[in-house]
Amino acid sequence: MDFSLSEEQLMIRDAARDFARTELLPGVIERDNLQKFPTEQVKKMGELGFLGMMVDPKYGGGGMDTQSYVLVMEELSKIDASCSVIVSVNNSLVCYGLEKYGSEEQKQKYLTKLTTGEKLGAFCLSEPEAGSDATSQKTTAIEDGDHYILNGTKNWITNGGSADYYLVIAQTHKEKKHKGINAFIVEKGWEGFEIGPKEDKLGIRGSDTHSLIFNDVRVPKENRIGEDGFGFSFAMKTLAGGRIGIAAQALGIAAGAYDMAREYSKVRKAFGTEICNHQAIAFKLADMHTSIEAARNLVYKAAWDKDQGNDYDMSGAMAKLYASQVAMDVSIEAVQVHGGNGYVKEYHVERLMRDAKITQIYEGTSEIQKIVISRGLLRD
Ligand code: CAA
Repeated sequence: MDFSLSEEQLMIRDAARDFARTELLPGVIERDNLQKFPTEQVKKMGELGFLGMMVDPKYGGGGMDTQSYVLVMEELSKIDASCSVIVSVNNSLVCYGLEKYGSEEQKQKYLTKLTTGEKLGAFCLSEPEAGSDATSQKTTAIEDGDHYILNGTKNWITNGGSADYYLVIAQTHKEKKHKGINAFIVEKGWEGFEIGPKEDKLGIRGSDTHSLIFNDVRVPKENRIGEDGFGFSFAMKTLAGGRIGIAAQALGIAAGAYDMAREYSKVRKAFGTEICNHQAIAFKLADMHTSIEAARNLVYKAAWDKDQGNDYDMSGAMAKLYASQVAMDVSIEAVQVHGGNGYVKEYHVERLMRDAKITQIYEGTSEIQKIVISRGLLRD
C-alpha cells in the first residue's frame, strides 16, 4: 500500500492551495453575504486548468487523474465551498459526462469550451417531484422530426444562471419508465428556455442555484447524449463520479474548519493559558483530526478506485456519506472552539458550518448513499 502523492499531484495541490489563499479568501465573506457569483475567480480557475482537469488534452483538458482532482477540490473547499461546487459540477458531471458518453461532434463543439473555462456547464436532473426519486421525471422531450421538444421545470440547479451549456434529463417514452429517459445538451438563450429566480440559500451562497423552465424548447437530435433511452443510466453513471467530488468538498470543509479551530486555540487564552492547553479543547482537536483522516482515506480510496478502473459506485457513496457527516460534525465543533467568535462571520467557521450541510443533500442525500451502499452489499 502506497499512501504517498506523486510530485505532480503535490504540485497541483500546492497550486490550488495558493490560489485559494490569495484569490478566494479575500472576498469570500462578501460573496457569501451578497450571494455574489465568483465570476472573476471562475475565469482564473479556467486559466489554471481547474475546470476540465481529468479531460484528455486533445479536448483542452488537463489529462490528470481523479486523485489530483480530489486534491484540488479539498484545497478550494477549505476556503470557499461555493467556488468548489462550481468546479465539481463542471468537472465531474458535465465534462466527464460529455467526454465519456458524448459524440465526437459534441465533444468538439461543447467539451473543448467547457474545459478551458470559456463556457460553464450545469447538470439538470432534479425536479420539484424528482429529487431523490430521480426516475420520476416530469420534464418531457418528445420527438418532432429532427428535433425533440422539451417541456418542464428543473429545480435547485447549480450554476443555473451562470452556465452556458446545460445537460438536461427528460422523459421521452413515458411507458418505458426509466428506460425511456434521455439526456440532452441545451444552450442558454434557446427560444423557450427561461432561467427562474435565484434561490436564497443557507450555505454555498456564492454559487448560484436556480430553477429552469423549458417551454417548447427545440433541441436538435444531434444534441441527445448516447442511444435513445440512455439518459437515466447516463445520470447515474455520471453522478457516481460526482459523488467523489462532493466527498472531497466535504473533506475540505472539515479540514478548513479544523485548521482554523487549531490555530485559534493556540492564541485564544482562558483561565490563564491558551485554550489548546485545556483538555476540553485538545480532545476536541484530537477527535476532529481523527475523523478527518478517516474521511480522507475513504475519499482517496474512491478516487483510486476510479483511477484503477475499479467499480466506484460504493466507494464513492461511502466516501460522500462519511465525509459529509464529518464536515457537519467538525464544523460545528470548530464553531464551539471559537466560542462567541465562532458565531461571528469574520471568523469564517460559521460559514463553513452552513456550507457543510449541503454536502449531505446534493448529488444524492445521505439516505440515498445508504441505498447505493446497501444495494451494493446485497447484490448477487
Ligand atoms: N450506474 C448505472 N446504472 C444504474 C446505477 C449506476 N450507478 N444506479 C442505478 N442504475 C440503473 C439500475 O441498474 C436500473 O436499471 P435496470 O432497470 O436496467 O436494471 C435503473 O438505473 C433504475 O435503478 P433502480 O431500480 O435502482 O432505481 P430506484 O428508483 O430504486 O433508485 C436511486 C435509484 C439510486 C435512488 C437513484 O434514483 C438516485 O441516485 N437518486 C438520487 C438522485 C441524485 O443523486 N440527485 C442529485 C441531483 S444532481 C446534483 O445535485 C448536482 C448539483 O447541482 C450539485
